[in-house]
Amino acid sequence: MSLKVAVFMLALLCVCCVHRCVCFPNGSVAFSCGNMMPVHPPFTPSTSSPPFTVSTSAATYRPGDVITVTLAVVDNSSSQFQGFLLQARSRAQQALLWPVGKFTNINASQVTALHCKNIQNSTVSQASGDKKNEVRLSWEAPSSRNYGDVYFSATLVQDYSSFWVGLNSSSVKLDVSGSSAAAVSSSSALLFINLLSLTVYY
Ligand SMILES: *[C@@H]1O[C@H](CO)[C@@H](O)[C@H](O)[C@H]1NC(C)=O
Ligand SMILES: *[C@@H]1O[C@H](CO)[C@@H](O)[C@H](O)[C@H]1NC(C)=O
Ligand SMILES: *[C@@H]1O[C@H](CO)[C@@H](O)[C@H](O)[C@H]1NC(C)=O
Ligand SMILES: *[C@@H]1O[C@H](CO)[C@@H](O)[C@H](O)[C@H]1NC(C)=O
Ligand SMILES: *[C@@H]1O[C@H](CO)[C@@H](O)[C@H](O)[C@H]1NC(C)=O
Repeated sequence: MSLKVAVFMLALLCVCCVHRCVCFPNGSVAFSCGNMMPVHPPFTPSTSSPPFTVSTSAATYRPGDVITVTLAVVDNSSSQFQGFLLQARSRAQQALLWPVGKFTNINASQVTALHCKNIQNSTVSQASGDKKNEVRLSWEAPSSRNYGDVYFSATLVQDYSSFWVGLNSSSVKLDVSGSSAAAVSSSSALLFINLLSLTVYY
């Protein structure tokens, strides 16, 4: 049995077990919205120093602000990344397992918008397995002040066997002179996403 067939069967098995998922035509890799872990059996996240960084255009935000988040290769590294998963998380409410805010100005030829935890565009991923040195994303802060300081957490995939989970930006602090509004809640999901097209495609 080839690796492709094996991975496909595993993906099918997961589809059958999973409560709810989004299946893409090329979908072969599952990402968990909660721990942002790609399912790349039998590989586990790399523990070596990551060749990638997650940075932001601002150190503070007000509700509704749009800031730029950049995923990039560290200086002088020859590494590139093929896949990514990115969300903002609240620091104020550590218990929150869901992303906050949403990504905007999504260029669908580069970026796939995901609706983790039913929050539209709360998470972004790659649109193709092309090798990348840098990806810039626009993120719109929630209209509520309830989330306090936030940070961005990314999974970056160099190739099928090398990926880093929990690459986090510095905190983006809530500017307390902002205004207030709504809140969000939700349920769980697993997403089957079009990752590298390295495994199953048909
Ligand atoms: C698989 O993905 C590629 C590039 O992302 C796309 O061009 C192709 O149409 C997709 N295949 C299917 C069956 O959707
Ligand atoms: C990258 O390479 C340049 C030129 O060789 C060097 O000046 C710079 O210090 C290097 N940066 C890092 C982070 O190693
Ligand atoms: C979207 O990305 C494609 C491919 O990189 C690029 O050619 C195009 O100009 C982008 N569109 C916008 C509106 O930025
Ligand atoms: C999510 O992004 C898509 C573009 O990918 C856009 O059409 C849609 O309006 C966005 N939804 C929200 C709630 O911002
Ligand atoms: C980065 O953030 C994630 C998600 O909140 C967390 O699980 C992980 O421990 C953080 N990573 C580090 C190195 O602190």
